Amino acid sequence: MKGRPLFPFAVIAIAGILLMVALSFQGLLASQADEGEAEEEIVFDDPIAAGEELTQRSCLSCHGQDLQGLASNPAINALEGKFTEEEIVQIIFGQYEGVNMPAMSNLKPAEAEAIATYLLHISE
Ligand code: HEC
Repeated sequence: MKGRPLFPFAVIAIAGILLMVALSFQGLLASQADEGEAEEEIVFDDPIAAGEELTQRSCLSCHGQDLQGLASNPAINALEGKFTEEEIVQIIFGQYEGVNMPAMSNLKPAEAEAIATYLLHISE
């Protein structure tokens, strides 16, 4: 050992470099997996339950805790007969003529559909 005092440090350095390479490679694989997932169409096993959760997260702040309307924002708890599921999706994305709601473009189409399914379900 006396002749090669740097040997243990070299071993540690090489081990560290190998570990870094391994971790970044793993990170690359993981990020590729994420991208693949993002492109897949979401399919909800239970659209009504999913819609309820999404509605609570995205709509209560403006339409009120019980969806009965808040300040000048209209109620959305009795939409049956007023809008179809497709029209509610258009409203959510700001594409329905006559309703100027701020578009919720962070939602995916399948999520907006689940919300519309839920809103029509509770208004029956
Ligand atoms: C930033 C506040 C805000 C958020 C968040 C919001 N809305 Fe609205 N919404 C409005 C306003 C304001 C109107 C009225 C627009 C108008 O009269 O032109 C409206 C109108 C509507 C209408 C039409 C109601 C009617 O009887 O005319 C529906 C349906 C609706 N929103 C659904 C939703 C859903 C579903 C969500 C959640 C995904 C949501 N909104 C989130 C503000 C909001």
